[in-house]
Amino acid sequence: MTGAAGGGAILEVHALHVTYESAGRAVHAVQDASLSVAEGEAVGIAGESGCGKSTLARVLLGLVPAGIAHIRNGRIAIGGVDVTGFAGRDWEQVRGQPVAIVFQDPLSFLNPVMRVGDQIGEAVRRHDSAAAVPARSAELVDLVRLQRSVLRRYPHELSGGMRQRVMLAIALGCRPRLLVADEPTTALDATTEAEILALLRELRRELGMAMLLISHDLGVLRWNCDRIYIMYAGHTVESGATAEVLSRPAHPYTRGLAGAARLARLPDGHFAMIGGDVPRLERPARLCPFLSRCDAAMARCREAMPPALPAGANGHQARCWLIAPAHREAI
Ligand SMILES: Nc1ncnc2c1ncn2[C@@H]1O[C@H](COP(=O)(O)OP(=O)(O)O)[C@@H](O)[C@H]1O
Ligand SMILES: [Mg+2]
Repeated sequence: MTGAAGGGAILEVHALHVTYESAGRAVHAVQDASLSVAEGEAVGIAGESGCGKSTLARVLLGLVPAGIAHIRNGRIAIGGVDVTGFAGRDWEQVRGQPVAIVFQDPLSFLNPVMRVGDQIGEAVRRHDSAAAVPARSAELVDLVRLQRSVLRRYPHELSGGMRQRVMLAIALGCRPRLLVADEPTTALDATTEAEILALLRELRRELGMAMLLISHDLGVLRWNCDRIYIMYAGHTVESGATAEVLSRPAHPYTRGLAGAARLARLPDGHFAMIGGDVPRLERPARLCPFLSRCDAAMARCREAMPPALPAGANGHQARCWLIAPAHREAI
């Protein structure tokens, strides 16, 4: 399941398997994830909490704990360079430029005892001359629509939305070709969330930057991504153009997620839940990871792992036996 991006891919991930291992215990956080992001493209990753989205985002930049996290299989290429075996200082070739990352919680990322201006300046200095720092810092705060007076402030003096803009300014200071945004608006109220998402859309247009936007909320991805990947228990289970996947979901898990998202908008505050539990991640799945929760499971699902199969127009794919030709003929 690679998607539409061809030669112009800034990011390609193929059959990635990442474990966390310590004290004799393993967590297979990412088991078989494949995705691509073309230059300038906006791509989303959706899935419930615990399905491996953040592990996937962080491993792209070598930001998983060394000695505990291991890439067991697969390949990551950034701008055509294979980074799968990178260690230590190798990652300096990737971090910030060409790939920058922003997280859900700016407070854990920002230094509490350093003025915002100094923190933005540090990012600028990694890629520009010291002489360029004042002008470039001012340009960056303008870019994220903050007043220049924030340069003299400390992180705790700012609102959540302003801090998120500061983290974005630091990321943009490195002139990334790909911005990875891991739940960037999850901690914000709905109005601030909408403002930050609008800012991300404007910045992508102005800078021609690609984005990998990660969210458990399909509503966030719907208007902000050209294509999306649905992740479940460490697997990319469905992918395609956002409108196509959300209007004609092929995988029962995606249907459940889309149903939950629709119901979540009901005024009574009720959320639809997909029945059953997320599978344990101590061992890699041999069969479809959604099997234990799936209403539509068939005998075939208990025999073999489904491959990525064509599920619709424009490269829409899903890993589900329901859409296999043999099954289609049988019904
Ligand atoms: N440092 C770590 N050590 C061990 N397990 C971890 C670590 N970080 C995450 N995990 C586990 O990996 C799985 C995937 O987590 P994560 O990538 O954060 O998913 P998501 O972002 O989709 O919520 C979860 O079971 C989580 O508990
Ligand atoms: Mg996460």
